[in-house]
Amino acid sequence: MTDTEVEILPLLREKHINYIIEQDSHRSYEYWLSEHLRMNGLYWGVTALLIMKSLDESLPRSEVIDFVFSCWDSKAGGFGAFPRHDAHLLSTLSALQILKIYDTELTILGSEKREQVVAFVKGLQLPSGCFQGDRFGEVDTRFVYNGLSSLSLLDELTPEIVDPAVKFIMECQNFDGSFGMLPGAESHAAQVFTCVGALAIADKLHLIEDDTKLGSWLSERQVLPSGGFNGRPEKLPDVCYSWWVLSSLSILNKKHWVDLEKLEAFILTCQDSKDGGIGDRPDNQTDIYHTCFGLAGLSLIDHEKYNFTEIDPVYCMPTEVTKTFKKWKS
Ligand code: FPP
Ligand code: ZN
Repeated sequence: MTDTEVEILPLLREKHINYIIEQDSHRSYEYWLSEHLRMNGLYWGVTALLIMKSLDESLPRSEVIDFVFSCWDSKAGGFGAFPRHDAHLLSTLSALQILKIYDTELTILGSEKREQVVAFVKGLQLPSGCFQGDRFGEVDTRFVYNGLSSLSLLDELTPEIVDPAVKFIMECQNFDGSFGMLPGAESHAAQVFTCVGALAIADKLHLIEDDTKLGSWLSERQVLPSGGFNGRPEKLPDVCYSWWVLSSLSILNKKHWVDLEKLEAFILTCQDSKDGGIGDRPDNQTDIYHTCFGLAGLSLIDHEKYNFTEIDPVYCMPTEVTKTFKKWKS
């Protein structure tokens, strides 16, 4: 192999499928500590299996749906991360995404829960346009994305919601063209996804005046020689940024601004060759979050090569599902 050739390891598809199926049987200390992330974890597992075209044979549909509904918080009218947990916007979006994958019309939700969840999400928006994650008040651009994405899945976006949300997002853009979690906060690649994704959902991408500046900032996230992406300057590369950065570049039609082959090679070196799963960096502990976003990154790079499901960079859901979404009218 010459210096310029990149070694691409094989994808360990079967091992990853087994790794995901066995998540729930890993009753480790860490497993119990992650109760607050269980609904997100289920969405990551379902998405990873969907990408590998093996959802239905790997996870029983009824068990997935039963778990989602067991997390319904009837008092708040939203979904919690685990049965009897308070509803939160992070788990509510994951729950809606999972339900939408199985039932694009969301009939399964029923009219009463649908009405309640719309009110729950809308009720979390603040006068600034930002959303809080729950009634306890944490705010940042993740929640703006989650609010707009949830209402988009429910076909409930209106100018009263979208206009102030977009104004808030634009206040989070920095001098370097990138975005932070709040106005004036440091630029961060995962927040770029939430802001660019939210603008795409709102059909307001044209508000990014200098997308060359933003595209350059995103391209500079590729760390050489590994080829992996970091989330901020001077940080180590991490597999999950394959998604946060490449989805953003993809939305901006600038995927070709980075070396996709080197990124592909990096993601594949982060696989656990013994037990399956993908970690943040080579030889690190695997987890379902990095497994999902590593596979989602590979799907954005070349879904046909891996016989993967094509994934929508805006919603992180199959394009087969998102193409059924109605475009909202401003
Ligand atoms: C960094 O996580 C990631 C974020 C801050 C973005 C999270 C985005 C959402 C919640 C929006 C919903 C997303 C999708 C795909 C539908 P981290 O700092 O924990 O990651 P790290 O420690 O591995 O860098
Ligand atoms: Zn990460």
